Amino acid sequence: MVKEMMNNKFEWNNPSSSSSSSSHLKQNHVLVKLVVSVLLVGVAFRLLYTGSFDVLPYAEETTTTTTAKVEAEVPAINYVVEEDSLLPTTDFSVEEQEEEAPAPASNAADGEVQEEYPQDQVSQKAATIEIPEKCNLFVGEWVPDPLGPLYSYESCHFITDDQNCMKNGRPDSGYLHWRWKPRGCEIPRFNAERFLEMMRDKSWGYIGDSIARNNVQSLLCVLSKVEVADEVYHDEEYRSKRWHFPSYNFTLSVIWSPFLLKSEIFEDMYGVSTGEIQLHLDKLDEKWTSEYESFNYVTISGGKWFLKTAVYHDNNTVLGCHYCSNSKLTEFGIDNAYRKAIKLVFNFISNSRHNAVVLFRTTTPDHFENGEWFSGGTCNRTVPYKKGEISLNYLDSVMRKIELEEFKNVATTSGSVRRAKLKLLDTTLLSTLRPDGHPGPYRQFNPDKNTTAQNDCLHWCLPGPIDSWNDLVMDMVMHD
Ligand SMILES: *[C@@H]1O[C@H](CO)[C@@H](O)[C@H](O)[C@H]1NC(C)=O
Ligand SMILES: *[C@@H]1O[C@H](CO)[C@@H](O)[C@H](O)[C@H]1NC(C)=O
Ligand SMILES: *[C@@H]1O[C@H](CO)[C@@H](O)[C@H](O)[C@H]1NC(C)=O
Ligand SMILES: *[C@@H]1O[C@H](CO)[C@@H](O)[C@H](O)[C@H]1NC(C)=O
Repeated sequence: MVKEMMNNKFEWNNPSSSSSSSSHLKQNHVLVKLVVSVLLVGVAFRLLYTGSFDVLPYAEETTTTTTAKVEAEVPAINYVVEEDSLLPTTDFSVEEQEEEAPAPASNAADGEVQEEYPQDQVSQKAATIEIPEKCNLFVGEWVPDPLGPLYSYESCHFITDDQNCMKNGRPDSGYLHWRWKPRGCEIPRFNAERFLEMMRDKSWGYIGDSIARNNVQSLLCVLSKVEVADEVYHDEEYRSKRWHFPSYNFTLSVIWSPFLLKSEIFEDMYGVSTGEIQLHLDKLDEKWTSEYESFNYVTISGGKWFLKTAVYHDNNTVLGCHYCSNSKLTEFGIDNAYRKAIKLVFNFISNSRHNAVVLFRTTTPDHFENGEWFSGGTCNRTVPYKKGEISLNYLDSVMRKIELEEFKNVATTSGSVRRAKLKLLDTTLLSTLRPDGHPGPYRQFNPDKNTTAQNDCLHWCLPGPIDSWNDLVMDMVMHD
């Protein structure tokens, strides 16, 4: 039964594979609930999103128990199903109040801009919104790139083994030869020297889960052509780290804070949990807030950890629980929790007296096909999707919708003095087009194809598509 659901789910995700998808909207509604229930097997997700640095984030034995659980229980989660989960991208930036408002008339005259920014999202309170004159960096396509990546799996020693696909024997290399081309403009190739020059005496913090770490490793690699950073700090679990570029006095940090909220996580290095996560929806994680003021630049992201089983606390009372099997607590949907978290994060940033450039990165998609990560899902594609070939899966679209709505909220709220420049790093859609960029079975060395080894269709190979996020970031801070 589960298997059948998965197949249906994939059809639902991929309009091109289902000729009658539009007429099945009602059926989809039900399917979505089932799919969501499958995806929300929180217990299981600990395996994927483990914080461990050097250890494979998978354990083998949970598959059967979680599958049984899925069949037994469909959690009540009130999501609204959207016909088109591919939401329009936005690129609002919160600017300091004294900056000039863009003239609405000139925007209206520009057909391109209007197309990418639906009327309701271009608020009348445009004083705090910056509309890029050039183009929307996040709408475009992947085009062939004969030059390939700026580093190799051999030249960069910052790559974690489970993302070092080439070293692990991945046979194809076509996935390395694509670059992101925004519609209507070009983004220059990442220029490590220029970037480091710009970062002289500055510091940058990446805050989030293992995808933030994946991203930092990619940045360390593209910069290593110019200078190899010294590791100057790591925490006990090697989850949070700091590096220093001596010639530039540039400090780069990654802070492991998968929920961005205060939480008690009972997980060891192997992702094995000994207790339910306790998540405080009214408090941010001091791990990052305490360091926030030390950064000139911040890249912050949340997302997938909210799928895990967790007990939710608010104002010192237990609100409920997300996907707790043997609990009398009421089910509390992840959309509420995630929205609360994002609101808190944005409020903190916009009320902080600290002057930083903050990039909020939207949720990162996974590409499990023919199953989920725990039920034999794979990702063996070797070329990107073309636009229109794929749409966001349901959970990613829910998360991204929350992110965009809350971003728009904070971007249009007048009143509070904002010193931080908050920008949206909207990598979700462009990453959705890259099913070919994940380790799959090559998260481990020479995977035995005979056994159904678990695939990693969430993290990104290095080198790989995630390197393009650096190009986008560089463009965003250079045109700051
Ligand atoms: C290095 O940069 C930090 C700020 O990130 C600054 O406080 C420090 O003085 C700089 N050191 C040197 C030697 O310039
Ligand atoms: C938190 O709970 C206390 C009582 O325990 C109550 O007085 C207070 O108003 C609550 N605060 C909020 C923000 O709900
Ligand atoms: C990819 O995986 C699917 C199902 O897991 C399989 O049927 C197909 O043969 C695989 N393709 C390649 C090129 O290995
Ligand atoms: C895989 O299976 C084939 C045929 O069943 C067998 O000949 C081969 O030795 C197996 N490979 C490994 C690595 O076990």
